[in-house]
Amino acid sequence: MKTVLEGIEMPAEELTDSFRNAMSSFPSGVTIVTTVDSEGEWWGFTATSFCSVSLDPPLVLVCLSVEAQCHPAFSTATSWVVHILPPRHRELALWFSSKGVDKFSRGEFTTNAQGHPVLEGTCAVLECEASARYGGGDHSILVGEVTRSHVHDDEPAVYFRRKFHTLTPLLETTTSA
Ligand SMILES: Cc1cc2nc3c(=O)[nH]c(=O)nc-3n(C[C@H](O)[C@H](O)[C@H](O)COP(=O)(O)O)c2cc1C
Repeated sequence: MKTVLEGIEMPAEELTDSFRNAMSSFPSGVTIVTTVDSEGEWWGFTATSFCSVSLDPPLVLVCLSVEAQCHPAFSTATSWVVHILPPRHRELALWFSSKGVDKFSRGEFTTNAQGHPVLEGTCAVLECEASARYGGGDHSILVGEVTRSHVHDDEPAVYFRRKFHTLTPLLETTTSA
């Protein structure tokens, strides 16, 4: 006999916790996303909510909390840079997730042609032009068209259940994805 679960809702607090725990069980890479505003001020934040959207044109998305101090800068930015981090940038990832700190006082940054901060020693860098922005609950979904990308030799950090991990390949097989 089937158990009917429809109509039985989880209490809001329980759902928030179990949603957080379920999502933390989905491993992801770790990124730092940076931009520069019209006054020349640099902005950045750590994000795991990053993924590819489309190959032609090449689109990626990242979700940014509407509560973030850098949200106004990214809401109006015409371009930004996504850095995929290796494990040795773990401390920098935590620094870039800290509110009210001078984020660019740590890490080695240069600038690209648009004057955006570009972090040294990453796994990959994707330079993006703003393509679309959508509301998504308490986050904004920033869709960027990739105009330049670079891949370096470093392996990426993996974020899983609120901890940073290194990558261990399971099999030698590769896919085209
Ligand atoms: C591993 C990790 C991943 C994060 N991923 C996101 C994310 O995808 N989107 C987001 O808005 N905040 C994310 N955060 C939190 C932001 O980095 C943090 O709130 C940041 O300080 C916001 O920028 P602000 O200092 O301008 O407020 C993450 C934090 C950590 C430690």
